[in-house]
Formats: sequence, C-alpha cells, structure tokens
Amino acid sequence: MDQFEVTGGARLAGRVAAAGSKNAVLPIMAAALLTDEPLVIHNVPALRDVATLALILEQLGVTATREGSTLTLHADPTGPSRASYDLVSTMRASICVLGPLIARRGKAAVSMPGGCVFGVRPVDQHVKGLNALGAGITVDEGYLVARSGGRLHGADLYLGTHFGPSVLATGNVLMGAVLAEGTTRIENTAMEPEVTALARCLVSMGAKIEGIGSHRLIVEGVERLHGAEVTIEGDRIEAGTFLVGAAMTGGEVTVTGIDPYQLTAVAETLRLMGAQIDHGETWMTVAAADRLRATDVTTLPFPGFPTDLQAQIMAAMCVAEGISVVSERIFPDRFMHIAELLRLGARIRKEGTQAIVEGAPRLSGATVMASDLRASAALVLAGIVAEGTTTVRRVYHIDRGYERIDARMAELGARIERMEQPPLEKHRPEW
Ligand code: UD1
Repeated sequence: MDQFEVTGGARLAGRVAAAGSKNAVLPIMAAALLTDEPLVIHNVPALRDVATLALILEQLGVTATREGSTLTLHADPTGPSRASYDLVSTMRASICVLGPLIARRGKAAVSMPGGCVFGVRPVDQHVKGLNALGAGITVDEGYLVARSGGRLHGADLYLGTHFGPSVLATGNVLMGAVLAEGTTRIENTAMEPEVTALARCLVSMGAKIEGIGSHRLIVEGVERLHGAEVTIEGDRIEAGTFLVGAAMTGGEVTVTGIDPYQLTAVAETLRLMGAQIDHGETWMTVAAADRLRATDVTTLPFPGFPTDLQAQIMAAMCVAEGISVVSERIFPDRFMHIAELLRLGARIRKEGTQAIVEGAPRLSGATVMASDLRASAALVLAGIVAEGTTTVRRVYHIDRGYERIDARMAELGARIERMEQPPLEKHRPEW
C-alpha cells in the first residue's frame, strides 16, 4: 500500500490537461453490453475504477483491449450475466451493468453494492425504474436478480430520491429503455454532464433519445444497437480539484481539455472567495494573489456545486479568512474528511448535514488517513498548503479516480512523493 509525503508551503502554478472523466467513462463502458459489435472509447483515464469495471465486464463475456488511452470493448451476448460480490463491492458504480444486462440478455444477477464510507447509498431507484420496464428484480442472497425473460417494455416513470435525481439510476434505466419495446418517458432524470455523455454515446449506437441534458428523457426503444466510437470529455471534478488547489495556495493554474461551463458553480464559489477566473471554450484559469475569503457552499445536483468537490472546497475554507458554512444536500454523511482535517489544525464543527469552518491562518503537517476518493484529494490539497510534512495514508482511494495525481500536482509545483506505506508501529506498553 502506498502513501504520499507532502511537503507543505508550495504554490501551484502552470498548465495541466484534464484526464478523461471517470464518471462519464464507467457507464459508457457498461453500454458495451448493449451491442454485439465493438464499442471504441478514446481518452479513457488510467484509473483503478476503470480497470475494475473492465474486469467485471470480462467476467460478463466482454473482450476488453486497451491501447494507450483507447479502450475497445466487444461483448459476447451469450456471456455470463452474473457480476460477483468480490469486484462489485469494491466499486459502487459497477451497479451500472444491471440495466444493460437485463435489456440485452433478459437476465442479470448483480451483487448489491453495499454501503460506503459516506452513507447507506440505496439502489431503490435503479430497481423501481427497471421494474417499471418489466425487469422483475428481486433481492436474492445479496444479489439483485432479474429475469425479465424477454424484451423490456416502455413505460412512463418518475425517478427521484429525497436528495434529488439519481445519476447512476438515470443511466441504468436509460440503458434499459433504449432496447425496450415502445416508448419510455422518464421524468426527473439527472442532468449531470456524465448522463448527457452516456445519452450521446447511446445515440451514436443507434438509440433514439429526446430531451438529452434536461430533466425529462423520452426514449423510443429500438430492436438492436450497433457499435460506435466515442471520446470521453475531460473530468470536471479532477479539473475542479486542481483549480481549488490554485486558489488556496495563492497560485495560478490553467486546466485544459475541459468544458468550463460544467464548472460554473465552482468558478462562482472561487470568485466569491476572492480568486480571479478566466476561461475559453476548452480551458479555465484560476489565480489568487491574496488569502481567500470565507463563503458558504451548498452541494446540489448539476448545475449546482458538486458533492464530489465538497471536501476539496472545505480544505480551501480551512485556510480562508472568516467563517464558511458547507451544507451537504446529496450525501448527508459525507464528512469523513473533517476528522482528518482537524489533525492538521483546521477548525471545523459539524452540525447535522452542515459543517462550520473557521479559517485558520495556518495548518500544520501531520499523518492523516484517506477515507474515500474525494476526501483523499482534499487531504493532499491541505498538505500542500500546510506547514511541514503531511503524510497521507491509504492513497489507493485516490488512485481509484485521479490519474497520477502525485506526478501531475508535482508538475504544478507541489512537493509530493509517493512511497510504500511502512507497517504501522507496534506500540509496546511500557509497564
Ligand atoms: C454518482 C457519482 C458520484 C457522485 C453522485 C452525485 C458515478 C460513478 N458516481 O453516484 O461520484 O457523488 O453521482 O453526484 O457517477 N439514492 C437513493 N436511491 C437510489 C439511488 C440514489 O436514495 O436508488 C440517493 C443517494 O444515496 C444520494 C442521492 O440519491 O443521497 C444521489 O445519489 P446518486 O445520484 O444516485 O449517486 P450515484 O449515481 O451513486
């Protein structure tokens, strides 16, 4: 297991190209199950989550070939339809094979993904939506088991959780509907750019979808889909992480290869904190000359402030001047990073689904533990700005979703070294 040793006090400056979007590529990879022709995907990031999903797909009879950043997936429709606990439990996004398996093969057994460190994360909307299309999903020995037997059928349905539309449930139901018989009208769909990317990929495979990018998708089912070639867009969350880093270190960073209009809520927040923002059609620059000012942030479905950048913006608030309030409206328990930020000297109080952050003039390096993907990124940012050395343990979380984050942060001026995590000291009592 690796750890990062971050020597604080660096200023991030320079240009960095965003890697392909993790959350866009995963459902698109699952879409390969919908056709028996090859799906060629360009600009695929080199991430552990991508490798895990490729393994799951291989177990489902998909041949996966990677050359550079191009991944070619070719499904055998007679392959197995069971996605096992061992792999599914390591990555919740693997639930997105459920819809395509049922739609193309009429059966599926996908392990329930289970909880994660930031909450229960139910799958009721996935089940409700696919059952409305005739999937007949039941839970059997920890697996979501579906035996539709034949072709799914179109239906009118409403998808919605207490916390707003669900991103992956929208993707799953959409992938069920594209091969269903008749018309499906899905209300309250997620509008995240990753859902739009999936819908566009499905259209290039021959699907008929109206309303892409809105809260209502109307799908005219087709009998078969064909192969396609798609390119994954730049990762808005990775880009946002670099840009928050620029702002909190008094630096200046340009991220290229992105759609800046996917980051307007983040840019607005950084502007309110005192940073200067500039952008073109495919890039964004954030610069900050002085210490940031406090502001309040509420995470919301797109185009609101993304929950996947909540931990990183909180790291920035820890060193901003004044008191900031973070309200988490998507995952109410997503606050694991607070305990670790406190170890660096941050002043944060959690009250229900809110965190009150009193900016400190300085943080000081310490050993901290990465608890989940985005929380780990926040700890790296905090380490870059802290005085002294911060050791971030369990960085395998960060490798799930950030491509070579250590090397790319280092290119921007961070002093960050990856090393093998030494075995924990055995403490011998003195008596
Ligand atoms: C996706 C993203 C994740 C991001 C999240 C919210 C991927 C691979 N992951 O996760 O990075 O943080 O969107 O933008 O794309 N819920 C239910 N029932 C369901 C499904 C969800 O109650 O059946 C709840 C969740 O617990 C959560 C909220 O709805 O409180 C939104 O979750 P959802 O949009 O489904 O997140 P994911 O799609 O799992």
